[in-house]
Amino acid sequence: MKNIVLIGFMGTGKTVVGRRLARRLKREFIDTDAEIEKLMGKTVAQIFARDGVVRFRSEEELLVKKLAKREDLVIATGGGMVLNTENLLLLKENGILVALTASPEIIYNRVRGNNNRPLLMHGDMMEKIRELLHERENAYKAAEITVDTGNSSIVEIVEQITRCLLERNYITY
Ligand code: S3P
Repeated sequence: MKNIVLIGFMGTGKTVVGRRLARRLKREFIDTDAEIEKLMGKTVAQIFARDGVVRFRSEEELLVKKLAKREDLVIATGGGMVLNTENLLLLKENGILVALTASPEIIYNRVRGNNNRPLLMHGDMMEKIRELLHERENAYKAAEITVDTGNSSIVEIVEQITRCLLERNYITY
């Protein structure tokens, strides 16, 4: 069956929801940031600082090429993954895109204590979140299913996604 690909802004819950969803659907879970960290032996923040954003994006591209050939995965993508049209097309070819959303305030509360989000580390974090969200609004609209993660528990979000997938016959159990 097609992969289920979680897309969306930083702090919308792609990793936690993805891990739970994979367990619920008895599928393998892949987090693209974690895969790249494993591959390069560095954290995302270290990759941005030492190798630069361009290198990180090219690692994302390489990884998507590999993942798009596989099936039955739940994939949590990095927030910038679908800004690259080629990545988006590859992920769509063999996957159902599910966008997770949340308000800027909720995102801010979730990410502010975290120092592994290099794009938000400089300047006013709230302002940066609003600016990037605005820039990326359309990219995340590419998803077939959109779920707001602001006011629901992880279990509720997983159930909501599962229901949508069943209704559309993307999964059969
Ligand atoms: C990024 C999001 C991060 C990570 C990197 C860049 C982005 O992933 O890939 O810091 O451009 O939005 P999360 O969305 O998992 O935080």
